Amino acid sequence: MNASPKKMAAIISGLQKHYVLKSETVRALRGVSFEVPEGDYVAIMGPSGSGKSTLLNLLGCLDRPTHGSFLLGDDDVATMTDDELSAIRASRIGFVFQSYNLIPQLSVVENIEVPLYYKGTLNSESRKRSIGLAAMVGLGDRLGHRPTQLSGGQQQRVAIARSLVNDPYFILADEATGNLDSVTTEEILALFQRLNDEGRTIIMVTHEDEVSVHAKRVIRLRDGEIQVDEPIKNRQVFTEEQIKEISKNASSESEE
Ligand SMILES: Nc1ncnc2c1ncn2[C@@H]1O[C@H](COP(=O)(O)OP(=O)(O)O)[C@@H](O)[C@H]1O
Ligand SMILES: [Mg+2]
Repeated sequence: MNASPKKMAAIISGLQKHYVLKSETVRALRGVSFEVPEGDYVAIMGPSGSGKSTLLNLLGCLDRPTHGSFLLGDDDVATMTDDELSAIRASRIGFVFQSYNLIPQLSVVENIEVPLYYKGTLNSESRKRSIGLAAMVGLGDRLGHRPTQLSGGQQQRVAIARSLVNDPYFILADEATGNLDSVTTEEILALFQRLNDEGRTIIMVTHEDEVSVHAKRVIRLRDGEIQVDEPIKNRQVFTEEQIKEISKNASSESEE
């Protein structure tokens, strides 16, 4: 009983987003409400045009809602200035994109540090932290490699390490496995599961059922509204054995 209330990574209430065009107003989100407790693992799904990208932009503090509130910690993102938005984006949201978005001229460890560079907090302590994150995603022996010297799965693991360097409220993954073959997709999903088991909060947009079944919860959008918000039935969980096996195979990928 009396269990202390779960801490929330994000609280979304009555979120609306309208795009005002010359001839009409598109109501891309029509009042969306949900809470994301710390440690949750949410898959956002829905047909094309249902509002996924719009919601993702709001969650990523790339845009402000037309109505409603979005609490990140004690801050309401809806009322932030552009400068405040970009500051919170750079400091407290961990983005993982389909296309990795690594900087080709930088090494693995330097790519992981990029968010700290924007924040102006690069120092020997942060270098240690970045090396630790590289090791955590299985790239401890490739710190000096450039992105072109890595496989797609390895590049995405650099992006995941980068997303964690600021200790974000949550990882926001946009079709993070969309460019990867099925074996590498498993490798990334196994890594997400491990991070989530360690307490990281993950919100991912995907259109693939084989990906979403690894999450704990699915939110389905339709016409700008939540159609379904429920735990994943028959969630697919990697066993510890599988995670070990997958990490082993992953780190022997494209040996140079
Ligand atoms: N910048 C924009 N200007 C006008 N309409 C937009 C804009 N972005 C999205 N929309 C419209 O909002 C609705 C939701 O789009 P979107 O969030 O991209 O959906 P999804 O990612 O699920 O395909 C669609 O009707 C789309 O045409
Ligand atoms: Mg979209």
